[in-house]
Parts: sequence; structure tokens; C-alpha cells
Amino acid sequence: MNIFQQRRERLYQDFDQQSVIIIVGNTQKVRSKNIKYHFRPDNDLFYYTGFEEPNAVAVLRPHHKEPFAMFVRGKDVAAEVSFGERAGELGVQEKFGADIAYDIEKVYTVLPHLLEERTKVYYLDEQEEYANNILSWIAHQRRNTGFDVIKHYRQLLPFQPYIHNQRVIKDEVEISRIRHAVEASVHAHKQVMKKCRPGMNEGQLAALFDFEIASFGCKEVSYPSIVAGGRNGCCLHYENNNCELNNGEMLLIDAGAEYQYYCADITRTYPINGKFSDAQKTIYQLVLLALDSAISNIKPGVSWNGIYQTCVEVMTKGLIELGILKCSFEQAIASEAYRKFTVHKTGHWLGMDVHDVGAYHDAKGEWRLLQENMVFTVEPGIYIPEDCLDVEEKWRGIAVRIEDDILVTADGCENLSSGVPRTVEEIEAWMAD
Ligand code: GLY
Ligand code: MN
Ligand code: MN
Repeated sequence: MNIFQQRRERLYQDFDQQSVIIIVGNTQKVRSKNIKYHFRPDNDLFYYTGFEEPNAVAVLRPHHKEPFAMFVRGKDVAAEVSFGERAGELGVQEKFGADIAYDIEKVYTVLPHLLEERTKVYYLDEQEEYANNILSWIAHQRRNTGFDVIKHYRQLLPFQPYIHNQRVIKDEVEISRIRHAVEASVHAHKQVMKKCRPGMNEGQLAALFDFEIASFGCKEVSYPSIVAGGRNGCCLHYENNNCELNNGEMLLIDAGAEYQYYCADITRTYPINGKFSDAQKTIYQLVLLALDSAISNIKPGVSWNGIYQTCVEVMTKGLIELGILKCSFEQAIASEAYRKFTVHKTGHWLGMDVHDVGAYHDAKGEWRLLQENMVFTVEPGIYIPEDCLDVEEKWRGIAVRIEDDILVTADGCENLSSGVPRTVEEIEAWMAD
């Protein structure tokens, strides 16, 4: 059994014979006129089918003799000459293990019949492609039978809570793909760090990152790379990447490769000229201390929010000692004064989506406890805007984020991205080399 079959089998065990699961894939989006964006399949559809073409719908029927039905684009010689091969109905059965397959153009007439006598319809359609049809599909049987035929009053249920809970715990195939995405990103970050010089443009370093990950078979980045010189680092999702890099300032680069639909997400901050100033070093080391303190506590059973709390406590103490926060520790925690400089939370699940799916709370609303084979980022940051006139001038304009990708193991964790230089000494040595 391949991994997609294994996942479907598990799903069939978890649902009863009253259930049907419908997963609608992505369509291709227009970039401009007749030019489309590069297509990326819906992650949930891919997770259960491995199918990578646009306009596909999977219908999964647990405990049925033909549990796996697919609607796909039909074969079309002219379209395939222009835009590439299609699997077609036969291909999706032969190569992807569908028990039955139909042309997607028949979805409106055929899909309602696939529901048969089943009464629970779990529906996932992130782009709302069939949002205007689903209610009539589930009512189709009772509306189109004789008055004395048994009617099926079906429930429409969300599929996301189930699948997104599955995806929080990564299987072996997922972990190996994430490892590869991270390995490619570590390599690319190291090359960018080595080549960074005053006078270069942010965009050149973004292009270099893309070039370096390509040799690892990574065709895309997981999100638009954030390559931010100096004060641009204070913009959390800066993506203009078109400024010159100035001597004496720092570069904040937040970039990750995607490998076979799995993401890396790594940030490093370092001096553009290869040598930290005293002020830059002080803030950098405080953020690194927060990151390392948080990572050293990670193991199964620890609360998700404990990671954030550790980062906040370390950074708040440090900011008070430096005179950047002008209050007591207790006051800063109670009033959340630290948020002025730490701005964001310190991590998220990582997987097929860079901000991966899955709840951060349990059924009782408590913070979730970490489990083996969860993968997430830890990414504390301190940002001191230039116009922050109530802090000493030497700190202004400094923005530092450090982000690593963490796998929870049976008794602790593994920092997958530790290979990119992290300490002041490692960074200065690597850039001088
Ligand atoms: N690069 C997006 C993030 O770190 O969340
Ligand atoms: Mn990031
Ligand atoms: Mn992140």
C-alpha cells in the first residue's frame, strides 16, 4: 500500500457506513488575462489521493465496495498539447488507485447518486467551488423520488476538524519531506549569508535563495521570501525585496523551500557587513537566548503556549535590563507591555501549509499538549522601530527574528534547522570565511 492508500484506509476505519467524504480540489487561478499562476493542488485532496491536477473532486465512501471515486479533467488532445498531459478517468484509476472515475463535467449529475443511502455528508471545499450546489446535491434523493419512497434527510458536516487533526501529527513520509525541505533551506540560507555584502539589493539575495534550493529539487518557496535590510525587518511580512543593503545595518531573511508540497520556514538575522555592532549583538543574543530557552523545554506533554511564555519571559527580562522597557517584570507581564517590541506570537504548526492546519486547543479549550511527530516553528523576535523616540537612539531601527523548525521526538525534540549559523561567533566566522 502506498502512503495515500494507507491514509484512506485509516480514514475508512474512523468513519461509519453512513458517511461520505467529499474533498474538492483547487482550480487554476488567473494571473493576468490568459496567463495562469503555477498550479498547486489542495493539500487535503493531495493528502488522501496524491493527485496533482486542477479541477478534481474525491468522493470517499467508507465500508463501500468501491470506496474511492474521483472526478477529474477528461483527456483532451489539444489541451494536453498546450498545457501538458492529463491522467483522465483511466489514468486516475490505474495510477492513483481510484475505484471509479468520471469526467469532472459530470460532477453535477453523477455526484448526488454516489451518496446512495448515506446520510452524513462530510464536505471540504476551501475555494467554495460547489458551495452553491452542495445543498441541492444532498437533497437530490428526497426531492427526486416518488412520494412513497424512503427519504434520506442528510446532514452536511465539516471534514476539516478530522483531517486537520490528522495532519498535525506527521507520518514518516511527511517527516522525510519536511527534512528535505529544511535541508535545502539550510543550504540556501548558508549560501545567502556567505554572499551578503553592502551595496547588494535584497532581490538579489531572494533570487540566490531560489537558485540554491533548486539543486535540491525544490521548485518553489513555501511563501514569498522576506529579505529585509535594516528597518524593513520591522515589517513582519515584508516582501518588496527591492532595497539596497546598507553597511552597518542588519539583514533579516525569512525564507523556506517547499519540497513535494512540504514546507520549511527559517529566519536568520545578521549584519550585512559580517560584523555585529555592540547594540545589534546585544539584541541578537537576547532573542537567541529566548529561542534556545524555549527549545530546551520542548518534549511531549508540554503545553503549546508554554513555548510562547518562555520566550516572552526571557525577552521581557532582557528588555527591562537594557532599559528598553521601563517598568517592572510583573508590570510588563500584567500589562503585556512587552508586545510593543515582541509584536507576534512565537510559532505555528509546519507541514503542507507553512502555517499548518490543526487546532492549538483541545476539546476543553485548553492549550494543546505537544506530542511526538508534531512539527512547528519557534520564532521569537524583537523589533524596535526607528520612530520609537522613548528608547535610546542606539537601539532604534534594530529588528531581529530567529526562527527554527522543530520536530518533537519521543523524549525531547530535534532542531531540524540548526545547521544555519546561529550564534554571533558562528555567523561572523561563516561570513568572514
Ligand atoms: N514566514 C512566515 C512565518 O514565519 O510565519
Ligand atoms: Mn518565517
Ligand atoms: Mn514562521
